[in-house]
This record gives sequence, C-alpha cells and structure tokens, in this order.
Amino acid sequence: MQKNKLLYTGKAKSVYETDSVDHLILVFRDDTSAFDGKKVEQLARKGRINNRFNAFIMQKLADAGIKTHFERLLTPDEVLVKRLNMIPVECVVRNFAAGSLCRRLGIEEGTPLTPPTFELFYKDDALGDPMVNESIAVSLNWATAEQLAKMQQLTHQVNAVLVPLFDAGGMMLVDFKLEFGLFHHEIVLGDEFSPDGCRLWDKQTRKKLDKDRFRQDLGDVVEAYEEVAQRLGVDLTDL
Ligand code: TMP
Ligand code: ASP
Repeated sequence: MQKNKLLYTGKAKSVYETDSVDHLILVFRDDTSAFDGKKVEQLARKGRINNRFNAFIMQKLADAGIKTHFERLLTPDEVLVKRLNMIPVECVVRNFAAGSLCRRLGIEEGTPLTPPTFELFYKDDALGDPMVNESIAVSLNWATAEQLAKMQQLTHQVNAVLVPLFDAGGMMLVDFKLEFGLFHHEIVLGDEFSPDGCRLWDKQTRKKLDKDRFRQDLGDVVEAYEEVAQRLGVDLTDL
C-alpha cells in the first residue's frame, strides 16, 4: 500500500490517503507536543517507538474482541489503518487522580478513583480541549446517545484489558485518552494508544514513565517510553 495525498497533519502524526478508499496510512513523527501544541519538541526515535507500541496494544485489544482501526505495520514509522469518520471527542478514563482532574478539584495526585471515572473532552486545540458531556455532544450532532454509550463501554473495556497488562510489567495505568470513529456505521477505536496519551507510573517508586516527563521537563522521555515497551515485551529491534 502506497501513500497518496497528505490528508491531515496532526501534532504527532501525519495522515495520508491510499489507493483504497477504506484505508489510510498514519506516519508517527518524532514531534512531541503538550499543552495543546504550545510546547513542541523533536524527540529522536519517539515516532518509531510509539508506532511499534501502538501496534502491540491494538493487537492486544483486538485479541480481547475490541474493534480497532489497526491493519498492519508498514515501515518503522508507518501503519495501515481503516479510514474512520472521526468523532471529535476524547474519551478519558482515570484509575488514579492526576493532571486536569487534580487541578480542577484540588485533590491529591495518586488518589485512587473507584470505580474508574469517565470524562469527555471536545477535541479542539484552539479552545484547549474543553470538557463536555454527552448532552452537548448529542445536541451538537457529534454523535448519537447510543454511539456515546458504546464509546464509554469500550473505553472501560480497554481499561479492563490494559490495567492487568501494565500491572504485569510493574506499572500503574493512571489514566488514558481514546478516540473513536465510524467505519461503515460501526464505532471503532482509532488514533493511537502510546505513552503520549496515557499516564503510567512505576508501581513501587511511582516514577512517571509517560508524556508527563515531557510536560514537566523531567528528562529521559524516550528512554522512559522504551522502558515501558521493554517491560511489556514489545519488540523494538531495528528501530
Ligand atoms: P488530563 O489530565 O490532561 O485531562 O489528561 C488525562 C489523560 O488523557 C492523560 O493521560 C493525557 C490524555 N489526554 C491526551 O492525550 N490528549 C488530550 O487532548 C487530553 C485532553 C488528554
Ligand atoms: N490536550 C493536550 C495537547 O493536545 C494533551 C497533552 O498535554 O498532551 O497537547
């Protein structure tokens, strides 16, 4: 499968059309961005590591019966995916408090959230990805109530698959963000799952192993992503 027209350039990935109307090629770039694009840096090899990592996770989710857009890896930084009609909301599940939840509610980082919370954010950098709810999403025709219910159920299902996976690697899955789209009228998981879009802490030391290392200038960002991949057994050879 070959890259045709560049369709869209995101903050960390570029999206190309292919000869198939039902498929796209995503290119994972080394660009690393935070704070809605206000902080951007190139981190060598980050794109390739995230491409491999995402493929590994998407395969685990598919094995658990969750429909995803992932088709196959093409090159170290390229992946073939189904072409989805994306729904412009971000689904966030949290197992422990961190980030915007702590800022909003003044609670301590690491506070357990039982059962895990579910939040929706409107995907719009210019507005700073504001928090929304199902009612707003339905009234603005972003998705139907049924589709949103399905996205919530799938996000919790992804959490149930990934918490034990990371736990086995000595990590806490603190929170993560998913994006969904429609493929021939069916809700399918799109975008990516990588340390760019989740929080992972070492179980013993609570060392941060995710993009908070970049947001908070903690250093060794790519080294942490590599450590996460190695702990899960993701094959990073040839990168
Ligand atoms: P938050 O604490 O900033 O709301 O983020 C919760 C989790 O979702 C965190 O792992 C980062 C991820 N996330 C993104 O990757 N992109 C986004 O645009 C948002 C809102 C969250
Ligand atoms: N919404 C934020 C961004 O787009 C998430 C982050 O800080 O990673 O950059």
